[in-house]
Amino acid sequence: MKVLVVGGGGREHALCWAIADSPLCDALYCAPGNPGIAALATCLPVKAEDIDGIVAAARDHDVDLVVVGPEAPLVAGLVDRLTEAGIKAFGPTAAAARLEGSKGFTRDFLARHGIPSAAYGRFADLEEAKAYIRAQGAPIVVKADGLAAGKGVVVATTVDEALAAVDDMMAGGAFGGAGEEVVIEEFLDGEEASFFALIDGTTALPLAAAQDHKRAYDGDEGPNTGGMGAYSPAPVVDDAMAERIMAEIVRPTTAGMAAEGMPFKGVLFVGLMIDPVKGPRVVEYNVRFGDPECQGLMMRLKSDLLPALMATVDGTLSHMTLRWRDETAMTVVMAAEGYPGSYEKGTVIGGLDNLSETADLVVFHAGTDRRADGTVIAVGGRVLGITALGATPRDARDNAYAAVDKIEWPQGFCRRDIGWRAV
Ligand code: AMP
Ligand code: GLY
Repeated sequence: MKVLVVGGGGREHALCWAIADSPLCDALYCAPGNPGIAALATCLPVKAEDIDGIVAAARDHDVDLVVVGPEAPLVAGLVDRLTEAGIKAFGPTAAAARLEGSKGFTRDFLARHGIPSAAYGRFADLEEAKAYIRAQGAPIVVKADGLAAGKGVVVATTVDEALAAVDDMMAGGAFGGAGEEVVIEEFLDGEEASFFALIDGTTALPLAAAQDHKRAYDGDEGPNTGGMGAYSPAPVVDDAMAERIMAEIVRPTTAGMAAEGMPFKGVLFVGLMIDPVKGPRVVEYNVRFGDPECQGLMMRLKSDLLPALMATVDGTLSHMTLRWRDETAMTVVMAAEGYPGSYEKGTVIGGLDNLSETADLVVFHAGTDRRADGTVIAVGGRVLGITALGATPRDARDNAYAAVDKIEWPQGFCRRDIGWRAV
């Protein structure tokens, strides 16, 4: 098979790492890829958001399967366009990608199907939004309806903070068009976890659970980020909890989307709040693998990923089983000093050659580039995902940080407490 992976971050490096290992894969392309991916795949200079460019690249290289990493091209209809062109593609259609692309759509869908979630209101009118906030009181959560690169959520501890958030989003245009409509929802208490499942339109196959660290600094302090580290499995999701999540959330979502004429195909990333009494409730859906969560999932997956992706596209997941390594995978993200605010680009990363990669330790590239002289430089906020396996969470953590300490990058930083909850 010839496979094209779309995207160029740590998630796509991890997907390429797994797919390159498949005996079924004859040729692997990635658009646009990054220097880490370039060791595994032929990188094509096409941006993930360039729908016409991706369709043309898939055609030019006679690709058998396109695997779409990030949400933006999914929401923009890349899978619809590839399917129309007769090219198989892993990921949901634009209609089904609204599970991530519109928070209001998702809240209404969950309510229609009785899937445990938060009480909420949807508002396109600023004064009505404010009246709802005053009536509900705090804590309360304000969300821009559309895609906001993970930044359109304010968990407000006071009514004033929530009022300021809707002002910013609806009147101030803080998230452009994404904030013209807002969802205001109940604050959910509990422990957060992420759960991943493949869905082929009618059948859902559980993958694994993970937990990530969204705040920039140790102690879960500081601004929200795309994720500073993650680990899998998540101790809070034991086998019984995983079965509840499948029965109460994933299978009803699969059935509901099919019944409403927009069957979901791809990977569903369920953001959960887990309360010992109230059980698992949906915080949000994403319609793609998590980043960095994907990195650890791929290292824990013993089975060949490629047949599972094909079965998802072909609607044959009911015949599929997957085997997992029992070890814990832990990813420590190294980010550029200043992230998630402004940061310097072009700083040199040394020491990568000090690390010998094994099946138990991989440095996934996210925001890197390579100069003509071969030097690796940082060009993004989140730059590397150092991912290690270990027999226990503590071992995985120690292995990951031992590798981090060999990387020479003075302008980078990482959290030192990834996995504290599991350790
Ligand atoms: P999201 O971008 O939707 O993942 O939200 C970012 C973060 O806000 C989540 O990871 C949660 O920590 C928090 N959050 C979102 N919605 C809620 C909610 N209804 N209750 C409590 N926390 C929430
Ligand atoms: N790490 C969270 C995400 O991928 O959205």
